[in-house]
Amino acid sequence: MAKDIFKNLKDKNKIYKNLYDGYWEESKSGKYTEIFSPVDNNIMGKIQSMNKDDIDKAIMNSKDAQLLWQEVPVNRRSDILNRVADILYEKAEELAEMLTMEIAKDRKSSIAEIQRSADYIRFTADAAKSLEGETIPGDSFPGTKKNKISLVTRVPLGVVLAISPFNYPVNLSVSKVAPALMAGNSVVLKPPTQGAISALYLAEVFNMAGLPKGVLNTITGRGSEIGDYSVTHKEVDFINFTGSTEVGRHISSITTMKPLLLELGGKDAAIVLEDADLDITVDNIVSGAYSYSGQRCTAVKRVLVMESVADVLAEKLKDKISKLKVGDPREEGVVITPLINKKSADFVMSLMEDADKKGAKLLVGGKREGNLVYPTLYDNVTLDMRLAWEEPFGPILPIIRIKSIDEAINIANESDYGLQSSVFTKDIDKAFYIASKLEVGTVQINNKPERGPDHFPFLGVKSSGMGIQGIRYSIEAMSRPKAVVFNLNNVE
Ligand code: NAP
Ligand code: G3H
Repeated sequence: MAKDIFKNLKDKNKIYKNLYDGYWEESKSGKYTEIFSPVDNNIMGKIQSMNKDDIDKAIMNSKDAQLLWQEVPVNRRSDILNRVADILYEKAEELAEMLTMEIAKDRKSSIAEIQRSADYIRFTADAAKSLEGETIPGDSFPGTKKNKISLVTRVPLGVVLAISPFNYPVNLSVSKVAPALMAGNSVVLKPPTQGAISALYLAEVFNMAGLPKGVLNTITGRGSEIGDYSVTHKEVDFINFTGSTEVGRHISSITTMKPLLLELGGKDAAIVLEDADLDITVDNIVSGAYSYSGQRCTAVKRVLVMESVADVLAEKLKDKISKLKVGDPREEGVVITPLINKKSADFVMSLMEDADKKGAKLLVGGKREGNLVYPTLYDNVTLDMRLAWEEPFGPILPIIRIKSIDEAINIANESDYGLQSSVFTKDIDKAFYIASKLEVGTVQINNKPERGPDHFPFLGVKSSGMGIQGIRYSIEAMSRPKAVVFNLNNVE
């Protein structure tokens, strides 16, 4: 039985197979990757390191399944997705427990990720029902008569390859899979290696809900080994990728004539003006920068504060950050948890070393135990420091002091990234002026950067991405207009 795949979740020798044509199938490659928990370093099980034959098989099966799925009425697709959401709600505790152990996400955020995913699916199932085409009369264009009418509907693209990152293995899989399915595509889901068990569980939820076989298949293996082969596969019609700018850029460089949606890294700035409510600002900056230990694309990754309020802001930030609970993600109230792996912790420490060497002032943190990096705040960060420009993906925040609004805008825009920015001020005119100048997908006024609510458009510019997510936008991105032009002979 397919659903047995998730029995004995605590069995360390368990091999997590892949969903293929409605069943959990073992790869013939005979190769596996062990998944260790970043929480206690214990092994959680093994996923399969698939080979090219496995990937061909999965993609070809999805291609066949898509031809049938696109014929399924939208209201029926919607029923299936609503069932997926119901099951996710029921299983939220169990799945959250797995997520916590697999990616060291604190318990509260893990549950929130699952519930948000269920809500996302429900909203998508409804939104797709009201997605309409249009009729366009020909005679509005010069020289065209009334006898020409274009009937424009939306059709699926085919097989969508969905590639998700470790920091939201469930939610950022759902945000690709659900809109792709509602648009009538089939999906091959390649989850992150660390996070794969949680994402495979999600795939089983779709399976349990009665998604027809082959409409969702999964492939696993290191992106560095199977990634290039998968993204360049000729039967993949669309790639929906979330991850680092480095990998996104690489995918873009090796795929030709293949539509891509890329959600990549960020270096979101919080710009703080003299008149900002500093308590609201501090609450937002701290939760924005340190939730899930800073491992969010939309984390606040630099503070640009007016010199005149910088001392007060720095003191308030230091005070709040010192109180953040650090440790085991299973414990109540813990915010700062071990980073995903040693490489990430080493990287954050290298940013600190550089900042120390160049004279930044450490206000709090700067300490590491294994892969647990304590929440760290630096003041007087200058533009020659790596911390001013690089995405740490860890619990570390630089304060850069500025003298004018235009200086803040210039520094913010000098970044290669362009995901979001926040502006903290009570002056609506200044807020709009700054917002109009910032080269980002979204500007938040008096709030931290954040992706949700999930029906808002979510996009990055420059090195932060390509294409638009957000429920309706994602459905549109994974479908295309199809026009049938009526040429009426008896009408002038
Ligand atoms: P990553 O290393 O780029 O990996 C992302 C996904 O790509 C994983 O599934 C990975 O598989 C796969 N992959 C690796 N090499 C590949 C290749 N050559 N071809 C195809 N797929 C390949 O990113 P991450 O460390 O998981 O996530 C952190 C990054 O994602 C940060 O930079 C963050 O800002 C960004 N992010 C952006 C958004 C956004 O919405 N803008 C959201 C979340 C995260 P393996 O795990 O097997 O390597
Ligand atoms: O990590 C990237 C996510 O898309 C950010 O989502 O702002 O809800 O944490 P979030």
